[in-house]
Amino acid sequence: MSNFTLTHRFDVIIVGSGGAGLSLALSLPDHFNIAVLAKSNLTDASTFYAQGGVAAVLDESDSIEQHIHDTMIAGAHLCERDAVKHTVEGGKPSVDFLLKHGVQFTLDEKQQLHLTREGGHSKRRIIHSADATGKAISTTLVEQAKQKENIHIFENFIAIDIITTHKLGHLEQENRAVGLYALDEKTENVHTFLAPFTALACGGAMKAYLYTSNPDIATGDGIAMAYRAGCRVANMEFNQFHPTCLYHPQARSFLITEAMRGEGAYLRLPDGERFMLRFDERAELAPRDIVARAIDYEIKRLGIRHVWLDITHKPAEFVKEHFPTLYARLMELGIDITKEMIPVVPAAHYTCGGVVVDENSQTDITGLYAIGETSYTGLHGANRMASNSLLECFVYGMSAAKDIENKFEAEFTLPDVPVWDATQVDNPDEDVVILQNWDELRQTMWNYVGIVRTTKRLERALHRIEMLKREITEYYQDYHVSKNLIELRNLVLVSEMIVRCAMQRKESRGLHYTLDYPELASELRKTVLTPPNFEVEQPLVNA
Ligand code: FAD
Ligand code: SIN
Repeated sequence: MSNFTLTHRFDVIIVGSGGAGLSLALSLPDHFNIAVLAKSNLTDASTFYAQGGVAAVLDESDSIEQHIHDTMIAGAHLCERDAVKHTVEGGKPSVDFLLKHGVQFTLDEKQQLHLTREGGHSKRRIIHSADATGKAISTTLVEQAKQKENIHIFENFIAIDIITTHKLGHLEQENRAVGLYALDEKTENVHTFLAPFTALACGGAMKAYLYTSNPDIATGDGIAMAYRAGCRVANMEFNQFHPTCLYHPQARSFLITEAMRGEGAYLRLPDGERFMLRFDERAELAPRDIVARAIDYEIKRLGIRHVWLDITHKPAEFVKEHFPTLYARLMELGIDITKEMIPVVPAAHYTCGGVVVDENSQTDITGLYAIGETSYTGLHGANRMASNSLLECFVYGMSAAKDIENKFEAEFTLPDVPVWDATQVDNPDEDVVILQNWDELRQTMWNYVGIVRTTKRLERALHRIEMLKREITEYYQDYHVSKNLIELRNLVLVSEMIVRCAMQRKESRGLHYTLDYPELASELRKTVLTPPNFEVEQPLVNA
C-alpha cells in the first residue's frame, strides 16, 4: 500500500448518493463546485430498493393536518411536531422536485398521480412507480447528477472521518467541519477532501442486525462519523423492523412492500387464520411496530419459521399490474403470488434515530449537515410511518441547500490540513478478525437487541459490544484501513449507541418494547447521546 495522498477542494462535499444526498446536490446552485462520494456505485443505496413510495398530501380529501396527525400517532407521540409540520408541508414541493427532474410515477385512469395506501396512513397518499419506486427515483436523480458539470462524482470512495477545526487543534476557534478523509477503494489511497460545507447523507445502520432489508452500505457511517466529530445523536433505540421480508434461502434482504397489505393482502398463520385481527383493529394496516411484534409473537408461540402473506383473493391481473417487480422476482423463485401465499418474516429495516439536526439539516457543528436516514430531525418519533422517510430525504435535502446557499462566502479560507498518516501502521495480518467480529456483532444485536428486549439481554449485549469495540479499535490503530474495517468500526459504535439508548428507555413505546417495562411512561422524552463519553440525557419532547 502506498501513502500517496491527494487533496481536493470543493464548495460542498456530500457523502452519499441516495435520495438525501442527490436532492441536496441537485438543489444547490449550478455555480457551486460539489463533490458527491459514494462508497459503492451511485445507485447502491437504500433509496434504490424502496418499493412502496413517497407520502405526500395531494388528494382533495386529505389534509396537512391529517398527515401530521397520522405521523404523530404512528410515532407513538414522540415525534417533534415542528419537524413533522415542516416535513409534511414539504410534500408537494418534494413531488414537484421529483417530477421536474423527470421521475416517472404511476398514474391513475384520469392521468393523475396514483395514490396507494400503507400502514398508519388514514388516507391514500403514497405516490409510487408501481412497486419499484426507489429504482425510478434513484436512476433518474443519478442521471441528472451525472449531467451536471459542477457535480463531481467519486464512486467507491469511503469517507473515514470528518476533519474539524478542533481536531486540527484550533481550540480557540468555533468547532467547524472543513472536510473529510476518504479511502479510494480501488487504489487504496486515502484522499483529503476540503470544503466549507460537508453533508452526511450516508443512510441508516440496519446492517447492525443479522437479518435486514437494507443493502450492504447501511453501516451507520454517517452517524458514527458525526458523533466522533462532536455531534449529538438521538433516539437510537428505535429500530424499525419491517413486518414482511421474504423468507427464502435464495433471496437475502428481499422486501415485500407494505403497499401489498395496503392493497388488501392478509397475514395468515399456517392454519389460515388472519391473526392480525386479534392484535389491532387496524389489522394488517396497523403501524409497523405493532404488526412486526405480532408476527414475532406468533412465530415464537407456534415455533414456526415464518408467517404467510396472502394476496391470492385479488384478481391475478390486479396483482400483476400493481406488483410487477415482486410478481416477476417471486416467479423466478417458484412462487406464483396470484395463486400461492408468500412466506414472510420481520427484518431490521430503518434507523429512526440519528444525528441531531435542525430544520435546515444543520448539526451541532458549523458547516456539517446530516440528511435523510443518517439524521434525527424529530419526524419519526418512536416509529416511522411508511413512506415518510423518502419524503424526509427530499424536504431536508432542499432545506439544507437553501441554508448552505445563504451561508456561503466565496472567500472562505480553509485551514492547512495534514495528509492522512499511514506511516505507523502495518498491512493487516489476519482479515479473519474482521469477519469474526462482524458476524458476532450482528448476531448479538439480533438476539439481544431485537423486536422484544429485556434489561438482562441489553446488559449482555453491551458487555459483548464493549469487548468487540476494544478489539476493533486496536485493529484500526495498528493496521491500514480497508472498507470492511471502516464499516465495522462504525457499526460497533452505532450498535453501542443503540444499546445505550435502549437501556435508558424505561418504558415500552413504539419500536422499543421491553418485557421489563411493558407500559408507556407518563412523560414524553427523547434519548440524546452527547460525545465524547456517551453522556445520556433524556429531555422532554416539545418542551
Ligand atoms: P441511502 O439511500 O441509503 O444512501 C446512502 C448513501 O451513502 C449511499 O450512496 C452510500 O454509498 C453512501 N455512503 C454511506 N456511507 C458512506 C461512506 N462512509 N462513504 C461514502 N459514501 C457512503 N422509505 C420510503 O419512504 N418509502 C419506501 O417505499 C421505502 N421502501 C424501502 C424499501 C427498502 C428495501 C429499504 C431498505 C428502505 C425503504 N425505505 C422506504 C426507506 C428509505 O428507502 C430510506 O430511508 C432512504 O432511501 C434513505 O435515503 P438516504 O439518502 O438517507 O440513504
Ligand atoms: C414498503 O414498501 O413496505 C417500504 C415502505 C417504507 O419503508 O416506507
